[in-house]
Formats: sequence, C-alpha cells, structure tokens
Amino acid sequence: MLATSSRICVVLALATLSSSASASPGVDPPAPVLPPIFVAPFQESMDYYIHTFHTKGVLYFDATSSSERMDREDGVADRYCGTARPFAGTFCSHLIVDSKRYLLFPQKDHGLGADSGYDCCFCCSAEDGCGVLRRDFLSNATFVGYETLNGTRAQHWREEGLQENDYWQTDDGQQRPLRLLQKPNDDMVFLGFSDAPIGPSVFELPKSCAEGRKCGGTCALVRRG
Ligand SMILES: *[C@@H]1O[C@H](CO)[C@@H](O)[C@H](O)[C@H]1NC(C)=O
Ligand SMILES: *[C@@H]1O[C@H](CO)[C@@H](O)[C@H](O)[C@H]1NC(C)=O
Repeated sequence: MLATSSRICVVLALATLSSSASASPGVDPPAPVLPPIFVAPFQESMDYYIHTFHTKGVLYFDATSSSERMDREDGVADRYCGTARPFAGTFCSHLIVDSKRYLLFPQKDHGLGADSGYDCCFCCSAEDGCGVLRRDFLSNATFVGYETLNGTRAQHWREEGLQENDYWQTDDGQQRPLRLLQKPNDDMVFLGFSDAPIGPSVFELPKSCAEGRKCGGTCALVRRG
C-alpha cells in the first residue's frame, strides 16, 4: 500500500512539473534492445546465506544464432550452478544452444572414464523459460532516468514483476549493458564490451553434454520434461 501510494505521489508530482513547464516535456528514450552480438565481462555480487559473495565472469551473447553463454569463475552462489553441483570455488558456465540450457563445469571430471571430458548436465529448455535472453527483454520496462555510472552517462530502466530488475545501459545509442540488478540479491556490473563476431568454438557443446545427464537443484525445479 505504501509503495503504491508513494508511486502515485511521484506520478502526480511529475505530472504537475511537466504541465507547469513550458519547455517541451521530457520524452523517454525508447525501451532497451540488446545489441545483436556482444561479449561483456562482468563482476557480480550475490547474497549467499549471510555473506555477500563476489565473482567475475563473461557474458557471450549472439542473437543471430540464438546462442548465449555465461561463465562464472565461481558458480557456487548462482542458483542454477550452485544447486546442481554444490562445489565452492568451481568455474561454471551456462551454455544455451538449440533452445537448450546446459551447465558446464570444466574443472570437474565427468566421472565416466578418462576420455569422457568434463562435467556437464542438461538444465532446462526454452519451453521451461530457459532460452536465450530476448533482445527486447525490457520492452515493458519503465524509464527511471538518466544517471552517471562510473563516469558513463546511463539510462536507468526498471522492470517490475515477481522479481524486480533494474538495468542500466549506455545512453550513446549503442545500448551497451552497464549493470543488471536483480533484486533482492544479484548485482552484475559490466566491465567492458565488444561487438566483434564471436568464434563458433565459444558456443560449441562439449561432447560430455551429449550424455543427456540432467542437472538437479534449481534446474530440476524449472524443468518440465
Ligand atoms: C510486454 O507486454 C506484452 C503485452 O502484455 C507482452 O505480449 C510481451 O511479451 C511483453 N514483453 C516482454 C519482453 O515481456
Ligand atoms: C570504472 O571505469 C574504469 C575506467 O574505465 C574501469 O577500469 C573500471 O573497471 C570501471 N569499474 C566499474 C565497476 O565499472
């Protein structure tokens, strides 16, 4: 109730401001659309039990081939990686290809013999909501305002929902991701950006994934099949 009524007050205050201003009213920028291809390293903080956990990673995104990969140096606090394989200090990747999401643990042996490669499991599919991020995933988001993030002029967007997401991107027409805050506890700050083509090896599915072993934990909860 409190949140709703304070939001109404803000809306009223803004309406009053813009109606009293004779200058052209502010026009919100168009909703974000992710660049079709990019690579962006990030640092991430997540609440993990009573600690704040930090890791680094890289996001590889290619909408033209519907492929995405998110590497984390330590996946223990990620709710998919950390519940599928509760190993602390272990690299974990989400790899989404052909509408299927896999979890890869390249520092862990698959346990199927010397040649079997590293640990990999099938997490969930696009029908379960586990597909590649939509370029327009924020098409219904609200523009919060312009802010400066680490010296860069940014657009701040907010998606209300079951889980509130705040997103910042550059305001230079390139729509580079700057920060994604998934409330209550996952804060991802992007440290760089490249829109150069991504080599196919990045999205190559290791042969150990073809085993079809299924991940437990959060993956099993969201997976219908
Ligand atoms: C935005 O809202 C429309 C209408 O409810 C819906 O069809 C569309 O899927 C939504 N977009 C996203 C990215 O959720
Ligand atoms: C802030 O900007 C500096 C210089 O561009 C960069 O080295 C640093 O990684 C950035 N920090 C964050 C948290 O984005």
